[in-house]
Amino acid sequence: MAQFAKHTSWVPYIEQALAAVPYPQKPEGLYEPIEYVLSMGGKRLRPTLLLMTYGLYKDDINHATPAAVGIETYHNHTLLHDDLMDHADMRRGKPTVHKKWNDNTAVLSGDTMLIMAFRHIMQCQCQHQAEALDLFARTAQEICEGQQYDVNFETRTDVTEYEYIEMIRLKTSVLLACATKMGALLAGAPETDAEVLYRFAERVGLAFQLQDDYLDVYGDPAVFGKKIGGDILCGKKTYLLINAYQRADEATKAQLLTLIGNNSMEAEAKIKAVTDIYNALDIPALTRAAINRFYDEAHNELRKLSLPESQWSVLWNYATSLLGRNK
Ligand code: IPE
Ligand code: IPE
Ligand code: MG
Ligand code: MG
Ligand code: MG
Repeated sequence: MAQFAKHTSWVPYIEQALAAVPYPQKPEGLYEPIEYVLSMGGKRLRPTLLLMTYGLYKDDINHATPAAVGIETYHNHTLLHDDLMDHADMRRGKPTVHKKWNDNTAVLSGDTMLIMAFRHIMQCQCQHQAEALDLFARTAQEICEGQQYDVNFETRTDVTEYEYIEMIRLKTSVLLACATKMGALLAGAPETDAEVLYRFAERVGLAFQLQDDYLDVYGDPAVFGKKIGGDILCGKKTYLLINAYQRADEATKAQLLTLIGNNSMEAEAKIKAVTDIYNALDIPALTRAAINRFYDEAHNELRKLSLPESQWSVLWNYATSLLGRNK
């Protein structure tokens, strides 16, 4: 078994690799925000998944490190643009780039991070490089599709759960899946294992976004690092809102529709009124149940790997450590 797969936390290793990336000094306005966002922490979930799956098949982890750095740089690129699109002021407990600087900075520094992400992954010069790049490019395009659906859904009131799941698969899951598969690909794992790992992380990703939706309402901003209620204020079609529409009687549904459509109401009062309806409809328990179902599906995927459970349990343990996360 690869020695690195036994590591319980990859975060210090990833932090070191990210901090070692050289950035040009000029223009400051382009690179400073990149260093800012990449130095403010985060769970480092995607590079962790990549390094873990690489470590399941190979020991020379330094060969996969540029890909891990690339995936995290890409993830942070999506955050710059996402925060601009979602009018979000706070991330990881700090002002977002478009707040600290301005909208143009979030666009252009964000674009630069997308390009740099490709350049990092291109540094993994092994026989699987072309496949890894193709997977990454396809994923990046799918995420744009997911983000477009997310925006389109803001102005709709009839989004189905099926449509919602496909939207979060595209905006969130595919990046976790790409990272998890890429580690295996770069290590030369059997194709069937790489596919299984993709589907595993796709399921974990769906659960991950449901938990994010939940925390957007019920999280503690001091821990979650983002403002609470942003999804409600944007009219985001989250798992919570879609199921509240489904479960509510006619009068409650009408009340909820009026609340969500009311843009002149005081933010705090609006968030509280919607949350009260979620509570009355038992939406938190429903969300937890859905998260558990996705985890069961993810677990079933891992059982199909060519490796024994004693080897993949490290990945499962990591995934379950995210269950019930509060940040
Ligand atoms: C935030 O991702 C975007 C979502 C897909 C919900 P993370 O929750 O992984 O954010 P960081 O990197 O840990 O801050
Ligand atoms: C995450 O969606 C998707 C991407 C960042 C691509 P959210 O908009 O829910 O993520 P947060 O809550 O801002 O982190
Ligand atoms: Mg957002
Ligand atoms: Mg968003
Ligand atoms: Mg969110």
